Amino acid sequence: MIVEFKNEPFTNFSDPANKKAMEAALASVKEQFGKEYPLVIGGEKIVTDKKIKSVNPGNVDQVVGYASSASRDLAEQAMQAALATFESWKLVDPATRAGYLFKAAAEMRRRKYEFSAWMIYEAGKNWAEADADVAEAIDFLEFYGREMLRLAQPQPLTRIFGEENRLTYIPLGVGVIIPPWNFPLAIMAGITTSAVVSGNTVLLKPASTTPIIAAKFVELMEQIGLPKGVINFIPGSGAEIGDYLVEHPKTRFISFTGSREVGLRINELASKTQPGQIWIKRFVGELGGKDGIVVDANANLEEAASAIVASAFGFQGQKCSAGSRAVVHKDVYDVIVEKVVEKTKALQAGPQDENFAVGPVIDAKAYESILNYIEIGKGEGRLLAGGGKAEGNGYYIQPTVIADVPEDARIFQEEIFGPVLAISKADTFEEAIRMFNNTEYGLTGSVFSNDREHLEYARTHMHCGNLYFNRKCTGALVGVHPFGGFNMSGTDSKAGGRDYLLLFTQAKVVSEKL
Ligand code: SER
Repeated sequence: MIVEFKNEPFTNFSDPANKKAMEAALASVKEQFGKEYPLVIGGEKIVTDKKIKSVNPGNVDQVVGYASSASRDLAEQAMQAALATFESWKLVDPATRAGYLFKAAAEMRRRKYEFSAWMIYEAGKNWAEADADVAEAIDFLEFYGREMLRLAQPQPLTRIFGEENRLTYIPLGVGVIIPPWNFPLAIMAGITTSAVVSGNTVLLKPASTTPIIAAKFVELMEQIGLPKGVINFIPGSGAEIGDYLVEHPKTRFISFTGSREVGLRINELASKTQPGQIWIKRFVGELGGKDGIVVDANANLEEAASAIVASAFGFQGQKCSAGSRAVVHKDVYDVIVEKVVEKTKALQAGPQDENFAVGPVIDAKAYESILNYIEIGKGEGRLLAGGGKAEGNGYYIQPTVIADVPEDARIFQEEIFGPVLAISKADTFEEAIRMFNNTEYGLTGSVFSNDREHLEYARTHMHCGNLYFNRKCTGALVGVHPFGGFNMSGTDSKAGGRDYLLLFTQAKVVSEKL
């Protein structure tokens, strides 16, 4: 019997036993640094000369591991393996397919600390952020498994006399899966297994900064017995294999989470019909955000300030859901600014394996880009906290607060994907909502207010896919807060929602005359 879906609890690290278990996992993972991880094509492990070097962003002298890097020929080999496997995998009973996800969830739950430790080192997450990422990955496995069971049930159709009608959800074909580095386990596992449990086979091209955690997940899927060729693991560069696979006539769909720039490019490439292509490719994209928190005049200011800081600086602001803007009513502006600055200054930056609140950003490119935005921001508003690099042998940046930022400022409009918060003043609540909506994105938002009418006004007028009242704008839970945004934030899909698997299936109706 399958019990009802429940979210995986987070680990309490103030419990000494849990702290000890985390330290032991970190030590054990560290001993495995520097190993090599192969491609996996049709179950065959292939080692290439060309490697992707994965470095700890918090201590750049440490190499977490080396992933083999696929050439175009190997990408083609993976496509052929996925195409061949699709012919058998699509016929596997949905309950059996779901069973693999449940087994994977159980195994991941057993190895929770180990998976957290890999992410701490490879992605620069602190303990709680890594633990939440593993919990979300487990949730996706448990949730999508159950969703497949639900979709495999007889579907409601209008009955007519003299006919028996059935609707079934059948898979699409081979999908190209391109996950981000910022939720290198949860989103990677979520977008891979939602496609797989629906009966598709996939080519998984992990983010080049976090291929090792993905390799560990692929190992786990092999260990629990997922048939060979269902998930084909092909780290590699976008230029060499990404475009090739997106344009491939046999690619049926692309599931991508990442930047707006790359997402739009994939969407364009995928929309061009190639010789021999007999379908219209589907593109499912979760792109960026310029999310924010609106604070009303009568809000609980202490809670609002804490939520602003948590939303802006959790995982160094490297979430598409990050609250990188705060739009505050003029009556409480000075108090909020003061509280936010005080709370931000209390955050300490340092090595993430030692569980500092603020760890490194992902790589040199992000580091330079964020520091550049900070310089731009200094000219666009009043710098009140942070403002540059932080100490350490990695990509550490001080959490930065810039106030009095006008709406047309670049740091108000552009996604920075780093620990930079812009605070702006609004004359009225309605004005604050209008300012919040002044973005090409529409992913997450929060409102802090104790005025029911204002909350209802926000419910109708704030244009974002995930809107929260009186809480932070990050940390959506699978099943509870189906996640995905409007406009340039993506294709309006909802990860962890009850319509998600429909994106990777097509409905077939069979009508029999009686
Ligand atoms: N789902 C995450 C959050 O809500 C972001 O990807 O923070």
